[in-house]
Amino acid sequence: MAAADARPVGTSVVSPTVNVTKKHHTKMAPVGRKPMTDLADQHSVTLAEVMLPAQANAWGTVHGGEIMKLMDTAAGCAAIRFAKMTVVTARVDELQFIEPVHISSYVTCMAEVVYTGRTSVEVFVTVDVEDLLGTQPKHRALSAYFTMVAVDSHGRPQPVPRFTPETPAEIERWQAVEQRRSISRQVRHRRSDSPAQPDE
Ligand SMILES: CC(C)(COP(=O)(O)OP(=O)(O)OC[C@H]1O[C@@H](n2cnc3c(N)ncnc32)[C@H](O)[C@@H]1OP(=O)(O)O)[C@@H](O)C(=O)NCCC(=O)NCCS
Repeated sequence: MAAADARPVGTSVVSPTVNVTKKHHTKMAPVGRKPMTDLADQHSVTLAEVMLPAQANAWGTVHGGEIMKLMDTAAGCAAIRFAKMTVVTARVDELQFIEPVHISSYVTCMAEVVYTGRTSVEVFVTVDVEDLLGTQPKHRALSAYFTMVAVDSHGRPQPVPRFTPETPAEIERWQAVEQRRSISRQVRHRRSDSPAQPDE
């Protein structure tokens, strides 16, 4: 996604999560006369939206692409909020459609920076679904890892600040991402080294 896409669309709302860490203690500017919050988490974003009929197929199931767009927007917002730079989506890994999402579901999309390379920011995105009438408990519907690359106005990759994992869970996730990235980098290099096949 590009920076312009980072703005919430439709009924989406962007809000800092309550998960405030020691690392980033930023005072947010007051909006109007009401101060929003004193402390804001600088590496995660939550978007929430009610799924409407226009987003679904004839059987009432929401199109996967609709949710993926929301995830991409959330990943971009989290990466931009962390890096304070424009980003583009370079890759999506481990996208899982765990449960279908239906019309009128209240969808919460949480995006969290979990890893940084030199110019890229990896964001873990989860989608939880809630039936506002309370007939079903809130449950996880999708998850994925988005690689967002910080770019300048010419689209050239730019260095990002380093994310420092602190908790055991953050460290474990960092190591898992590092391992996966190293494998996929080797595959990419192997592909770029091999001559193109006739049908490519
Ligand atoms: C993403 C993009 C900027 C990378 O440009 P590039 O010239 O390949 O840049 P580099 O080779 O210097 O790589 C820059 C970073 O991107 C990462 N990267 C590049 N291609 C990648 C891929 N296919 N998968 C994962 N990471 C990738 C590199 O690992 C590197 O990360 P690091 O600096 O943290 O190690 C470029 O491919 C691009 O603009 N793609 C289109 C993005 C876009 O328009 N997205 C919206 C989709 S519609």
